Amino acid sequence: MSGVFAGGLALADQSPPEELVVAPVSAHEDVLRVEHLAKSFGQVTALRDVSMHLKKGEVLGLLGDNGAGKSTLVKTICGFQKQDSGQMWLHGQPYEPKSVQHARELGVDVVYQDLALIDELSVYQNMFLCREERYSRLPFLNGAKMKREARKVLNDIGIRLPRLDVPVARLSGGQRQSIAVARGVYSNADILLLDEPLAAMGAKEGAMILELIARLKQEGNLSIIMILHNYVHVLESCDRVNMIVDGAIALDKPTAETSVLELNEIVVEQYRRARQAAQVQEVA
Ligand SMILES: Nc1ncnc2c1ncn2[C@@H]1O[C@H](COP(=O)(O)OP(=O)(O)O)[C@@H](O)[C@H]1O
Ligand SMILES: [Mg+2]
Repeated sequence: MSGVFAGGLALADQSPPEELVVAPVSAHEDVLRVEHLAKSFGQVTALRDVSMHLKKGEVLGLLGDNGAGKSTLVKTICGFQKQDSGQMWLHGQPYEPKSVQHARELGVDVVYQDLALIDELSVYQNMFLCREERYSRLPFLNGAKMKREARKVLNDIGIRLPRLDVPVARLSGGQRQSIAVARGVYSNADILLLDEPLAAMGAKEGAMILELIARLKQEGNLSIIMILHNYVHVLESCDRVNMIVDGAIALDKPTAETSVLELNEIVVEQYRRARQAAQVQEVA
């Protein structure tokens, strides 16, 4: 026990000794840890041995070639599918989501690359999918209220849609993706997983989403894992970058300590090795 706390009155007008000035524990806390995760689909090994972590308020960019295992990792964390082996921890507790809904209840929400929206449902119905009950205790859904809330959320982000009651099938790819991202962001989750949130978006829509993520980062409560393809976006929007190569994390660095050049070199090296392996096979 230090004198500051033991004899607070006597030391009230003095600065605490240097060793007592520590950052709040929460700033360093891992909200999520993934250890030695493996997942195969028949003969295909999607995740070989993935260990990673996510700090509170951090935006982690996940990079990797097509088929590297990025979506599989996200789908495992969000409860969509279960790993073959390995362990996950949420806020220091063992984390074993039974379903996407279960993960959501534990504060982990996802915007999938390929399962984002239900085409036949309208904009506002999609935004409140599986969450309708939070907005009404009545046995029927309060459409007008959902529409109002959806409009507000979309306006906040800067997404302009003339009508919210049309099926999302009629919208552009970028508009659909914006709705999916908006839904995730306003879901009350404390960990959000975004699988290629900028796919199918034009530069303007993409910039809006990155702007939104920058705002969320400033608030510091939400922790995000985001799969992106564009290195410039990663370096601009993320605090740290992980790159998956062959089902394992091959690079883990703060974005301030890496560059487009370094990220490119890893990919070029990977490509070189793949070509060599293909040539060896051809000769054999
Ligand atoms: N449900 C599935 N059934 C069979 N193979 C799958 C399934 N999901 C993913 N894969 C395979 O696992 C590998 C990793 O896929 P994925 O995680 O989607 O990669 P990424 O998102 O990095 O492009 C790929 O070879 C892919 O074909
Ligand atoms: Mg993917």
